Parts: sequence; C-alpha cells; structure tokens
Amino acid sequence: MSPRPSLRRLLPISASLIVPPAGVFLALIVAGEIDLWPALAGVAAITLLSALLAGPFLHDLAKVAGYAAALARGEDASPPLVTSSLAADLLTALNQLRRAWRLQGDEKATLLGFHETVFDRLPSPLFLLNAQRRIVKGNLAARNLFGRQQTGRDLAAVLRHPDILEAADRVLAGAVGEQVDFTLPGPTDRHFGAMVEPLPQIGPDGTVALLWLHDVTTLKQLEQTRADFVANASHELRTPLAALLGFIETLRGPARDDGEARERFLQIMQEQGTRMSRLVDDLLTLSRIETHEHSRPSRRADLGTILHRVAAGLELQAAKRRMPISLEFAEPLPPVVGDEDELVQIFQNLVDNALKYGREGTPVTMTARLADQVPPAIAGLGAAFVAVAVRDRGDGIAREHLPRLTERFFRVDTARSRQMGGTGLGLAIVKHVIARHHGALAIDSTLGAGSTFTVFLPAA
Ligand SMILES: Nc1ncnc2c1ncn2[C@@H]1O[C@H](COP(=O)(O)OP(=O)(O)O)[C@@H](O)[C@H]1O
Ligand SMILES: [Mg+2]
Repeated sequence: MSPRPSLRRLLPISASLIVPPAGVFLALIVAGEIDLWPALAGVAAITLLSALLAGPFLHDLAKVAGYAAALARGEDASPPLVTSSLAADLLTALNQLRRAWRLQGDEKATLLGFHETVFDRLPSPLFLLNAQRRIVKGNLAARNLFGRQQTGRDLAAVLRHPDILEAADRVLAGAVGEQVDFTLPGPTDRHFGAMVEPLPQIGPDGTVALLWLHDVTTLKQLEQTRADFVANASHELRTPLAALLGFIETLRGPARDDGEARERFLQIMQEQGTRMSRLVDDLLTLSRIETHEHSRPSRRADLGTILHRVAAGLELQAAKRRMPISLEFAEPLPPVVGDEDELVQIFQNLVDNALKYGREGTPVTMTARLADQVPPAIAGLGAAFVAVAVRDRGDGIAREHLPRLTERFFRVDTARSRQMGGTGLGLAIVKHVIARHHGALAIDSTLGAGSTFTVFLPAA
C-alpha cells in the first residue's frame, strides 16, 4: 500500500500556494515595474517549485491517512515510513491513540470475560430473553439442566411449561415481573420457582428480560417430611388412645360389673398408656436433639463407663429373653468427644433393638476399638475415630431396607415393632445424636445371621 497524492489534490494546494505571488506579480505588471512574460515565467517557476516542495509532504500525509483508515477497519497495519517531521508527529500521535485503544479494548474484553464467568457461575439456572421470547443466552446451570443447544431458540422449545411461557409473554408485552412455580418431572421430580423480570433497558445483545429459576426441591421435600411426620406421630398416638377410650367405654358399660374383665382391660390400658408415654418421650428426645444438633459437644466422655452403664440398664430386659450382653474391649478405651447422656441413649437404643430383634437365647455383643477404617462420609476429616459395634444374632435386615432404617417411624415389620413396644424412632434418634457428634453409623446385616450396627465417634 503506497498511496500517492492525486493530481486532483495536488492542484488545488499548488494553486492556493501560487495565489499570493501571482497577486504580487499582477500588482507589479499594473505598476509597470515588470513585463507580462517574465511575470508569467516567475509564476510558473513558483508553481513548479511549490509542487516539488509540497509533493513529498503530501505523499507522507496520504500514507498516514491510509494507515489511519486501515486501523479504523480493524486491520493490524504496520506504520508507514515517512520523511516529513509533521507527518512523523501525526504518526506518533496516531500510534499513541492506537495503544490507548488497544488497552481499553483489552480492559473491556477482560471485564466482559469476568462478567461471563460470573453469569456462568451463578448457581441457579438463568436465561436472557429477547423481545421475540428467544433465548439470547443461558448460563452453565441452565445448560446443565436443559441441554447445550439453547441460544436462538424460542423459550417454548426448551421449557414447555405453559404457565412460564404465558408469564414470559406478559412480561415481554410490558407487564412487571412475575413468579411461577413448576415441576420438572424425572426419576425424582424437581420443583422450581421461576421469575421473569423485565430489564430497565434493552441490552446490546437484544436482551429485554431475565428468566431465573430457583430449585425449591429440598424445601418441598422438607415440607413433605414435616407433613408426613405430623401425620405419622398423630397416627401413632391415636391408635393407643383409641384403645384406651374403647376400654374406658367398655368398663363403664357392658363390663361394669365384670371384675375379671376389668383386671384384663386395666392391664391392656396400662400397656397402651405406657406406649403413648414412650412415644411422647421419644418425640421430645428427638426434638431436643434436633434443636441443638448444630452445636457440637465439646466435653470428653469415657466410652467404657457409658457401655457398662448401658449393659447394666438393660440387664433385666436381656435376662427375660435369655440374651447375655457381652462387652468385648480392652480398657481403658480412648476417650471420645461427646455428651455422655446422649451417647448412653445411642447404645441403649441399639442394644434395645438387638434384644428385641435378636433371636431369643443368643448373645448380644458390644465391641469397641480405635477404628482402622471409617465410612467414606467421615474419611476425609483427618480425625481418629473409635468404633463401637453392637452385634446380634437375629433374622437380619434385607438390603433394600437398610437406607431407610434411620427414617422416623420406618419399621421393617410394623406389627412386630409395636408388639415389642417399639416407637419407630430409636434409630432416628441414634442418627441425629451421631450427626451432632460428627460421627457416622454403619449397618451391616445378613439375613438369617444377624446385624451389626457400628457407631464411629471422634476420639478426643
Ligand atoms: N438389630 C436389628 N435387627 C433387625 N431389625 C432391626 C434391628 N434394629 C432395627 N431394626 C429394624 O429397624 C426398625 C427401626 O428401628 P427403631 O428406629 O429402633 O424403631 P423400633 O425399634 O421402635 O421399631 C425396627 O422396627 C426394625 O424393623
Ligand atoms: Mg428401637
């Protein structure tokens, strides 16, 4: 690229340069100081000289102009070689401008990249919509939820929920923001709150509104759990209550004078009353542990003392089913961080289960040692754990029930649990106490052979 100043440009400049000397020559002719021909020769000489002098300068200027035009087109042009100092100055100024632009451009690109990252990292799915309801862009969470190919598609092709589409249409037509709840069906349903918000101004990419989804599945599940819990607890209380009321009615009516029936009924009534009281006790224990589940115990507890206390407390119950409780560990055991009463509660519940669901006449064993292997949930904590295992020789538990065992009111065999005086809350209490202690529970069971419940507690 070597632009030359055209004759069209050169002429007017040369002409403007010769106007003053031509005027002087004209005045001299009129004054009779000079003849016409020498004057014309003088003007021609000046014209030629000025064209010769201005030529290279104009050539430089044309090169600088060409360079500036190339930069404006975004080309990566290299600066031309110029000879005149004015053109060189112009070129220097142009290069400074170029550097400033480049710097600004880099800063803008960095900022844009940063905004893209923030947009992508937002944990909730987010879509930018244009006035035609097409997706301008979706963030990473949106792409993960609805697939990669979204840009440029109508929202309806990605999210087929009529309520959301109608809300989006209303917002695009000028309404204020709207919120819609919807469910994405799948192996496990996911519940979302969707917000469509108009933007105060149109974005450079045509964005006029945002569609933001927030996952409320956990909240919904919690709500369901709470509702189930209230229903279960009421049901558990109502059954013995109905029995009590029934017997009271019978005692006041048909069995009023039947001394033998009265004795039998009172016996049953006492059992039902005891069952209700046990249930209320367990419910209160559970609620108390849950309210302070997030404050970890800080005191040391001696496991040996705890396990002996548990065994002694259940001795009578064990003797009734001829099931000796054997403690198998070398003392002293390493101390653990924990609340002694709550730890007693854990092992009481586990040994109680072992006595209830173990076979009559078989022993229940409690072993304790420093754990050489811990469940994955606590493996990364770096602490040492003491493992206490409660083992029975019972019918065992089928594998499919194991994940649900610590749910409130879950029983493998409800009738058997009730008949044994169970509330269905024992293992739920165990789970929450262990969670508060930052420990873990492992359940190992073989059908027909028995079960082992192992509690891992952080050593002090
Ligand atoms: N050692 C065990 N052997 C067999 N099944 C057990 C054992 N421990 C618990 N289970 C099962 O888990 C269920 C829940 O236990 P838990 O929460 O203690 O309630 P509960 O003992 O009051 O029924 C029991 O009903 C029983 O079906
Ligand atoms: Mg129990």
